[in-house]
Amino acid sequence: MSSTGTKTTISYFHEVPGTLSHTPTHLAILGFGTASTTLAKNLRGRGPATIRVWKRQPWNDELQSMATTMGVTLCDTPQAAIEPADLIFSLVPPDAAVQVAEAAANHIRGKSYLDLNAASLRAIEKAEASIRAGGGEFTDGAIMGPLGRQLHRVSTVVSGPQADKVARLLCGWDMQVRAISPRVGLASTVKMIRSVYTKGIEGIVLECLSAAHLFDATEEVLESLEEILELGPFLLPLREMFNELLAEQVEHAPRRAAEMEQVVKTLEQIQVEPRMSRGTLTTLQKIAQKAELAKDFSGKPDVSPGSILAAIARVAGPDR
Ligand SMILES: NC(=O)c1ccc[n+]([C@@H]2O[C@H](COP(=O)([O-])OP(=O)(O)OC[C@H]3O[C@@H](n4cnc5c(N)ncnc54)[C@H](OP(=O)(O)O)[C@@H]3O)[C@@H](O)[C@H]2O)c1
Repeated sequence: MSSTGTKTTISYFHEVPGTLSHTPTHLAILGFGTASTTLAKNLRGRGPATIRVWKRQPWNDELQSMATTMGVTLCDTPQAAIEPADLIFSLVPPDAAVQVAEAAANHIRGKSYLDLNAASLRAIEKAEASIRAGGGEFTDGAIMGPLGRQLHRVSTVVSGPQADKVARLLCGWDMQVRAISPRVGLASTVKMIRSVYTKGIEGIVLECLSAAHLFDATEEVLESLEEILELGPFLLPLREMFNELLAEQVEHAPRRAAEMEQVVKTLEQIQVEPRMSRGTLTTLQKIAQKAELAKDFSGKPDVSPGSILAAIARVAGPDR
């Protein structure tokens, strides 16, 4: 991997022998819910010669006729879907990813398996182990964009030894798939880590607005937020904004921790459970305890994003 400025270029893919080297490609999709139906419906006629889907029981005539309308074959066992296929997508709830990979493993020899579930690193590693033990090729995938809006062109990243080949095949089907690494787990974990921010911010908004509502102060809180979000770091490009926020956090952590303690007490008093605020307090207290960090950064507004991030990772990272 080489880094040019802020962009990272992946340059270590090479031709990997294996499946998917011939056309036409027959696709199997394990699971027949929102994501599977969206992809099956929109990929039909675009690339795969055939699409078979497996749906666990129960299923009924309505589902059967939906599959027929879509032009896909509904199968009642994983084996029936997988055996005629070259490429298999797994699209089941994250907590079923391992179980479904285990069920697929008995029929997977010589085939390529793409796990698109938003599952944890450990689950992806377990799914990979099952597929490899069964003689299949495993690729880790993460759907990163809004599926409902982007349909089969939803922005997707893949990682694993076959990722480049899988991405090229799927881009040929008019999908938007980018191979990011030969390392299984990277695609899913990038999505998990991104969710710390994207879902975390939703939790913070909810806690903030619940408290505002309960205290009958919603308008005042919203107006005040509008005012500060139109100022300072929040209008900067993302990387600069993060850099400024972190630099300030390091420098002012002791004072902010003391304030956050009062925030937690206030929410408790008005009977809003301060789940997110307690997390913020703990983080600030941890940073504040590392006095040398503040010393490193105070009065040095030009410290590079990399050095601040590395320093924050040292204190906010794993407890040892
Ligand atoms: N939907 C999205 O916009 C989206 C976006 C990005 C990523 N994803 C990922 O895609 C995957 C599927 O999401 P989805 O929205 O399509 O979910 P969904 O609508 O709930 O569909 C899940 C499918 O998996 C089946 N299933 C559930 N538990 C199973 C089990 N233990 N064994 C076998 N099959 C099982 C379900 O069957 P039953 O109906 O019988 O339960 C259903 O057919 C998830 O991992 C999700 O994180 C989805």
